[in-house]
Amino acid sequence: MYYPDEIIEEVRSKNDIVDIVSGYVRLQKKGANYVGLCPFHNEKTGSFMVSSTKQMFYCFGCHTGGNVITFLMKHENATFQEAIEKLADRAGVKLPELKLNEEQKKQMSEKSILLEINKEAAKYFYYQLRGKPGELGMKYFTDRKLTSDTINSFGLGFSLPYSDDLVKYLKQKGYTDELIVKAGLASHDEKRGTHDKFWNRVMFPIQDINHRVIGFGGRVMGEGEPKYLNSPETPIFDKSRNLFGLNFARSSRKDYLILCEGYMDVISMHQAGFKEAVASLGTAFTSGQANLLKRFCNSVILSYDSDGAGTNAALRAIGILREVELTAKVLDLNPYKDPDEFIKNLGSEKLQERIDNAKNSFFFEIEVLERGYDLKDPDSKTAFYREIAKRICGFADEVERNNYIDAICERYSISTDAMKKMVIGYAAAGISRPLEQMAVKPAIKKADPEEGRKRSQRLLITWISEDNSIFEKISPYISPHDFTDEMYQKIAEKLFESLKDDNKIEPASFISAFEDEEDQKRVAELFNTKLLNSDGLPAEIDDIREREKTLHDILVSVKTGSLEYYSRNIGSNPNAITRVVEGKKLLEDLKKTKIKLG
Ligand code: UTP
Ligand code: MN
Repeated sequence: MYYPDEIIEEVRSKNDIVDIVSGYVRLQKKGANYVGLCPFHNEKTGSFMVSSTKQMFYCFGCHTGGNVITFLMKHENATFQEAIEKLADRAGVKLPELKLNEEQKKQMSEKSILLEINKEAAKYFYYQLRGKPGELGMKYFTDRKLTSDTINSFGLGFSLPYSDDLVKYLKQKGYTDELIVKAGLASHDEKRGTHDKFWNRVMFPIQDINHRVIGFGGRVMGEGEPKYLNSPETPIFDKSRNLFGLNFARSSRKDYLILCEGYMDVISMHQAGFKEAVASLGTAFTSGQANLLKRFCNSVILSYDSDGAGTNAALRAIGILREVELTAKVLDLNPYKDPDEFIKNLGSEKLQERIDNAKNSFFFEIEVLERGYDLKDPDSKTAFYREIAKRICGFADEVERNNYIDAICERYSISTDAMKKMVIGYAAAGISRPLEQMAVKPAIKKADPEEGRKRSQRLLITWISEDNSIFEKISPYISPHDFTDEMYQKIAEKLFESLKDDNKIEPASFISAFEDEEDQKRVAELFNTKLLNSDGLPAEIDDIREREKTLHDILVSVKTGSLEYYSRNIGSNPNAITRVVEGKKLLEDLKKTKIKLG
């Protein structure tokens, strides 16, 4: 953190969160809070809440949250520092002059330096493409029919045909060889010293969902191996948890996203108006990416090359998407190889038609399967039908199963009764395709006891922060070490401390102690965990007896969780025995006590 805590707190408290958020989101007053459509995920009913008293925002849909600083960081893709500077300016707070010396530079967290280096490199490549030395690169892009708007909005660039110009440039900016290598932009060996990883390529910056450059793909202009060279994995570049284009696609406001194979596919789709296109990063699609997609859409349309490799990749992706319960469909681009070619030949209207008619992923799987059978041969045909029946067994839901039976039977002119019998036969014999291979239904998720425990802890912190008067009633039973998550414990300590001293607490100030958006989100969650009704929306309990009972249950659950935790850690935590002995007694007391509210 460059700025002193007091300054950060001053800047934060002088910028009212409702004021700031209203500048971006239409908010409606609802009780003590304000509600609107979440700007960070696609939704039709508002689950995005801004609290004036907490000075926090929180979305009950995508679980993003934080204080006014977080909001700006997310909405403007700003770093912590930039957000502070902007807010200070707005509130007329004069920030102390910052001159970083070598020591401070070292202290700056490594990740933010690596991000800074990648940002500098992106600027450098961007600049080169637009100058004399980049003419070849520019010609390559215009030959591929990219407009200058597209080239600019994707921040495309060019690496010069020299092997150390970027390294020189970055070193002159004050970064060490070691960090430049760590950022994925250079390699080091005895013979050549530190030298550029990318040269004489057109450059595609890869951004995370907050538009921060985390790596690059570089393409040869014309033929050459490898066609694309990508940044290696680095502390800021996790290829299995990011997707190219998602920083734009996340705000496309469609309920589906299109998953393509390559950078160029995404770029030409966006240029043609399909802003919902994303691609993986030169590696196979992963479940981390599926989970990421799930934050922004309900279904994914696969747009993979129609060759054998593309088909296999699509089959794999379908399985992965099913596991996270995302619906998958498959786009048919025939006779063209990929979206880029399709658009160039048939245009965007035709592409939209294909998107609207994207194929159900189960039918796609059956069609691929069909290629392995000769339907003119009776034996082969029977084997094919049997295989279909086995796969249909994989649908756990009867209605769904019957719908698929109907659809498949109609398509292949099979008698539904015969197919049903076959399916029932296989189901009774317990034969169905294994889930991974068949990938129809996700295994039922076991409730994670760890997560349950943490949820009780969050419920309690939220409750205390919203009603300080309960603190006195519960403090005989609960102390900060009952919060078994490290971050929760730290915050409980601060919170309990200020409540003991009768200080007014503003939870939003706890958030700014963390520079990282993910951490800020976790703190926001801690202060916004509500009991949910059956629709998954925050529930208010009006009846006071019921409230008392609920609070009592939460206390017992937190205390029990803490006891379990310390019992398990007796070997490794020197305080554990004391905590267990005292905890047992307090839990007994608590069980006999009635907590009185009001
Ligand atoms: P493609 O070869 O289909 O490339 O690889 P593309 O995106 O369609 O690009 P153009 O149109 O030929 O220029 C798809 C993706 O696979 C990764 C890249 O992410 C690429 O976008 N890839 C491909 C590599 O990482 N390295 C390679 O050598 C080739
Ligand atoms: Mn391609």
